[in-house]
Amino acid sequence: MPQPVIEVSGLRRFFGDFEAVRGVSFAVGAGEVFGLLGPNGAGKTTIVRMLTTLLRPHGGEARICGCDVRRQPARVRQCIGYVPQALSADGSLTGYENLLIFAKILGLKKRERERRIEELLAFMELEEVAHVLVRKYSGGMVRRLEISQAMLHRPRVLFLDEPTVGLDPVARKGVWERLGDLRKNYQMTILLTTHYMEEADTVCQRVGILDRGEMVVTGTPAQLKESVGGPTAASLDDVFAHYTGKQLTTGGNYNELKQVRRLSRRLG
Ligand SMILES: Nc1ncnc2c1ncn2[C@@H]1O[C@H](COP(=O)(O)OP(=O)(O)OP(=O)(O)O)[C@@H](O)[C@H]1O
Ligand SMILES: [Mg+2]
Repeated sequence: MPQPVIEVSGLRRFFGDFEAVRGVSFAVGAGEVFGLLGPNGAGKTTIVRMLTTLLRPHGGEARICGCDVRRQPARVRQCIGYVPQALSADGSLTGYENLLIFAKILGLKKRERERRIEELLAFMELEEVAHVLVRKYSGGMVRRLEISQAMLHRPRVLFLDEPTVGLDPVARKGVWERLGDLRKNYQMTILLTTHYMEEADTVCQRVGILDRGEMVVTGTPAQLKESVGGPTAASLDDVFAHYTGKQLTTGGNYNELKQVRRLSRRLG
């Protein structure tokens, strides 16, 4: 593996008596896209929130770009971008205005922020809708805008919690292409969570399957398929079912519905 940028060792988190993350360890190398998979409630978001310093770990260690999430949270925040599971763009503003607010919060100087906003709008293929209200955007456009917001300070690491939930297949592919280019053009290290096995297979160099707070297995999609019956015989769906004992349901789960509803409600 290339030089690790995300190093997680024995990470734990309780909510009351319930242990949601039970001693999870893994590493992500520079320039890798790592996919965190697992059924609803497995602990994916809880891990992402700990790694982005939003939630305090109760045990274990995590370092991002060599900085400890517990002891050096401000330094960790400087080197990461985060796109949460819930909506993070304002529907009553244009895409450009959303980016401008983020850039101002980051304290970017006028010329610098104009340059970066322009660059990101072009890179994320949002130039044509830059001055349209976000509530008029398609789901794919909103997601690409949110990724742009998280990229304004040029982070080395990007965390994406279910980046394509509720998107149609075309919009989903659009996001995948942008993520692939981020890795290629900016050598970005990316950790994403997903329920879509095709997404994990297409976008991720390595994946980890989480179940009830524990990391059950990590490896490249090819290695995991091999481990349950060979690269041609098995799909990542088979891998998921094998390691979690759960079949993936088609047609969306509650979580997805909740997400889609929240999106449409916020955007009015
Ligand atoms: N703030 C909280 N208070 C109490 N319990 C919580 C809290 N946040 C998460 N949990 C519980 O911790 C477990 C892990 O939740 P988490 O959101 O990390 O799962 P997830 O893998 O992201 O699931 P999903 O695929 O549905 O997004 C779940 O049982 C959840 O109910
Ligand atoms: Mg989640």
